[in-house]
Amino acid sequence: MDIQDIKNRFGIIGNSPLLNRAIDIARQVAPTDISVLITGESGSGKEVFSHIIHQLSARKHGPFIAVNCGAIPEGTIDSELFGHEKGSFTGAHEARKGYFEVVNGGTIFLDEVGELPLGTQARLLRILETGEYIRVGSSKVQKTNVRVVAATNVDIYDAVQKGKFREDLYYRLNTVPLRTPALRDRKEDIHLLFRKFIADFTDKYRSPNVQLTEDAQQLLANYPWPGNVRQLKNIAEQVAVLEKERLIDARILQQYLPTDNRNTLPIHVASGGNDDFSERDLLYKVLFDMKKDMVELKKLVVEIIQNGINSRIVEDNSPYINKLYREVDSSTPEQLVPPSTLTIHHSPAAGQNDDFHFHTQEAEEIEEESLSLVEKESDLIKKALKKHKGKRKSAAQELGISERTLYRKIKDLNLN
Ligand SMILES: Nc1ncnc2c1ncn2[C@@H]1O[C@H](COP(=O)(O)OP(=O)(O)O)[C@@H](O)[C@H]1O
Ligand SMILES: [Mg+2]
Repeated sequence: MDIQDIKNRFGIIGNSPLLNRAIDIARQVAPTDISVLITGESGSGKEVFSHIIHQLSARKHGPFIAVNCGAIPEGTIDSELFGHEKGSFTGAHEARKGYFEVVNGGTIFLDEVGELPLGTQARLLRILETGEYIRVGSSKVQKTNVRVVAATNVDIYDAVQKGKFREDLYYRLNTVPLRTPALRDRKEDIHLLFRKFIADFTDKYRSPNVQLTEDAQQLLANYPWPGNVRQLKNIAEQVAVLEKERLIDARILQQYLPTDNRNTLPIHVASGGNDDFSERDLLYKVLFDMKKDMVELKKLVVEIIQNGINSRIVEDNSPYINKLYREVDSSTPEQLVPPSTLTIHHSPAAGQNDDFHFHTQEAEEIEEESLSLVEKESDLIKKALKKHKGKRKSAAQELGISERTLYRKIKDLNLN
């Protein structure tokens, strides 16, 4: 089967060399019984690749199970994976087969494998080396024949060096490493993916198809996509469901892209070098938009508090307000309004009825607030330093920049 056939069969979109390389590795390693460690950011297609490997292997008619190791409590993970005997722990009323027993003859996908406790890692290593395992509470050695495909979105070698992941297991799993590329590393595929998802979703929801203008395509290409394909898919779905315009420009599209992501802060880019001006300009714009959002939001909160929420909803159908309601629906208030920028004074006297006392003059002050980026930047840095009591390491972490960059900025901005 060639790479294009695999793409068609598994619904994989994209033509970037990094993606093709990953598919090629999957194709070659699939028919062997070798363990594969798939590394890649969240939403970049790790699970899709585990299916490819299983389906193109001799085990394709055998069972396949995906297990999220990070989601199973430490106390029960051994029992889930390897089974247990009746009475082996409180609540073990019946004997139970583990996944490795159930999947005998097939493939198990161990997602977030770096989260496995050390004891479980030892059991896993034994299964990989000999096929042997022991149910919890038993002394009988059993055999199984399972192919392991593991995945991680963190640098697992880091965990090895910290003693949290067994080195021998790491090498055993990582015989053939496979990396699913981040979306930002295959920009050429982004518009392609978006078009495919839009077509799927407009079909599904019977909404009119939409097109992107040139600048909207640019915006998509330059967005950092921390949630990768999953996030892009999600945004395409929102656009398909909510957007009234058929031709979408950057201004409209911008409203669907979350701006509270740390990666989009201009400070972050500045640490990367000076050669990427267009990207930096774009990120500056994002910051401005964020600021604008914040001002609007503050005004809105003041108004709601003064007039009650219903009057506002009925009166205002502006796209901004609609967008805001969508955001409020899908995020916590803390994400929307960092407490440090919006001062709501909770009056202890009114504690019982949960009343908020709000300083309305603030909203007026806000409009006169400067929009200078340099000022904003130094403001943010000061705030971070203050919050972390002058500890530069923690402040840098919070700002999403390196300590070195923070030092430089403190010097450049004369913040000493
Ligand atoms: N290259 C791709 N083309 C089309 N869809 C993809 C591609 N990569 C991932 N997806 C889709 O993105 C979503 C997330 O993929 P998934 O494999 O669950 O990511 P991960 O396991 O790395 O978090 C799924 O809906 C998957 O179908
Ligand atoms: Mg996943």
